[in-house]
Amino acid sequence: MVLLASPILAGCSGVQSALAPAGHEAEEVARLFLVMAVGAGVIWTLVMAAAIYATRIRPEPHEEHIGRKLILWGGVAFPVVVLAGLLIYGLGMMSELRRPGEGLRIDVSGEQFWWRVTYRPKDGAEARSANEVRIPVGERVEFALTSPDVIHSFWIPALGGKVDMIPGRENRLVLQAERPGTYRGVCAEFCGASHALMAFPVVAMAKPDFEAWLAAQARPAAQAVETARGGELFRLNGCGACHAVAGTDAKGEVGPDLTRFGERATVGAGLLPNTAENVIRFIMETDTLKPRAKMPAYPNLPHADLAAIAAYLGSLK
Ligand code: CUA
Repeated sequence: MVLLASPILAGCSGVQSALAPAGHEAEEVARLFLVMAVGAGVIWTLVMAAAIYATRIRPEPHEEHIGRKLILWGGVAFPVVVLAGLLIYGLGMMSELRRPGEGLRIDVSGEQFWWRVTYRPKDGAEARSANEVRIPVGERVEFALTSPDVIHSFWIPALGGKVDMIPGRENRLVLQAERPGTYRGVCAEFCGASHALMAFPVVAMAKPDFEAWLAAQARPAAQAVETARGGELFRLNGCGACHAVAGTDAKGEVGPDLTRFGERATVGAGLLPNTAENVIRFIMETDTLKPRAKMPAYPNLPHADLAAIAAYLGSLK
């Protein structure tokens, strides 16, 4: 049994598992799951034992008052006590899970099909990003979650429960990572053709590292001479109509902010590793890599131009 279960359970570890909690909230949720799973196992065993007893061991008719007692205790009293106990246990966790954050707020908007991220530190400049979330370890970070059009659901299984992103509403979620690492967040509500293709890395950093990183976000990304040609092509092809790169005249709001694209781990919202080849591929085949995304594909751009644009984007750090 253990041998049979081990390969299955091995699939529960890793960067995107609610059963491998790396944060306080996720631990609470995992504990609730464990309590319910063990409880359900015990009850299932009791019910099976009763069924075997009644059909195999003593199949003959029983006295009526015994049957009535069984229904009263086993069918009414027992479920009422167990379900009330579970409800009280679950409600007791809620106050803990709803404690407010400690200063850093991160606004995340679910888009079709990517994530708009704005860091709002208590003191210090706000910073824009996309498709990646960075948080300091050991701090309760408050997420303000919304969406402009359809419902998405923001879920970082290793750090906590999922919360819907609903147009016209702002939902709050507080998460705290207990140890540094990279986790994976996903969209957990069907939001359109590329619902399964919007994910994001979550990087939990030691607090001093995070603060240095966030402070650096306030200045515009470096513009290197070697990638100036790519920057020019980015401008000439109109990329800036949808994408913003702080410090340049690219100020588009429709698509992901690319100011520090070069330091992100993925391209296309968790879709592919962030390499120059994948950036080129994403620009050429947007429609097949991410069906129904608002960005058109550019299959006819000369390869040299695509390579220059990819080099430019990769240099934005
Ligand atoms: Cu966004 Cu599913």
